[in-house]
Amino acid sequence: MSADIIDGKAFAAKVREKVAGHVARLKEEHGIVPGLAVVLVGEDPASQVYVRSKGKQTVEVGMNSYEHKLDADTAEADLLALIDTLNNDPAVHGILVQLPLPKHLDEDLVINSINPAKDVDGFHISNVGLLGTGQKSMVPCTPLGCLMMLREHHGSLSGLDAVVIGRSNIVGKPMAQLLLGDSCTVTIAHSRTKDLPEVVRRADIVVAAVGRPEMVPGDWIKEGATVIDVGINRIERDGKNKLVGDVDFASAVERAGAITPVPGGVGPMTIACLLANTVTACCRANGLAEPEGLTA
Ligand code: GUN
Repeated sequence: MSADIIDGKAFAAKVREKVAGHVARLKEEHGIVPGLAVVLVGEDPASQVYVRSKGKQTVEVGMNSYEHKLDADTAEADLLALIDTLNNDPAVHGILVQLPLPKHLDEDLVINSINPAKDVDGFHISNVGLLGTGQKSMVPCTPLGCLMMLREHHGSLSGLDAVVIGRSNIVGKPMAQLLLGDSCTVTIAHSRTKDLPEVVRRADIVVAAVGRPEMVPGDWIKEGATVIDVGINRIERDGKNKLVGDVDFASAVERAGAITPVPGGVGPMTIACLLANTVTACCRANGLAEPEGLTA
């Protein structure tokens, strides 16, 4: 049996449509336009592509986009001064500092200098703590997108066995917290996990976020499980460049009940959730009701 394909591209378009509706209402009823500031330090080509895409989609849903491009050798004090200005700018509701930063900059210090209420990445230590204790927070975009797709597919996730492969601060750990918040029984697996195949075989939900091309073969997947593949790995095959996930799609699709493809699965949801977080931050900043279905 072949799995249902979870279409992240179509889902992301729906999320953007919802965001655009909220943005239009905020404008009409309150005269407020949500604003997202994106800070890029240096010229990393992949980061430049992401930042351009974020700016374009921000404008497409009717929000204001503020891009700040700084030289690769920018002094830490200058970056912190810019963040301070954005923290105090009432037109800016969300701030994102594109990672990775050049080596001479302290990433933790920079992220923790963002006003947590404007931290649309959900990386600030306060937001990490709030999420971990089940309180209202800004939620990291990629895990939020995965959660939305899982809820859409399953309805309730209560009582399901979930395995998250990967323990990064950006995906693995917050993903596990979100699944726990939805009453899954959660295992976080990683490179030192003993008998990873057996751990994965127990799972009703598998979230793979390790960054290793096709490391999860289909025979690790329980029949009928839902597989969310966060990996985006560039490989060369048959002399061609190809994007593949952390899961071997060809074999997993024969075992899973539902699976996200790469590309076109989790990837498009990340920026859609960034836009959703910016509207959420804007509503909270103005004491307005939060948009339904766009938060955890
Ligand atoms: N670099 C790669 N992914 C991300 C992300 O989600 N947020 C930020 N700030 N930088 C990134």
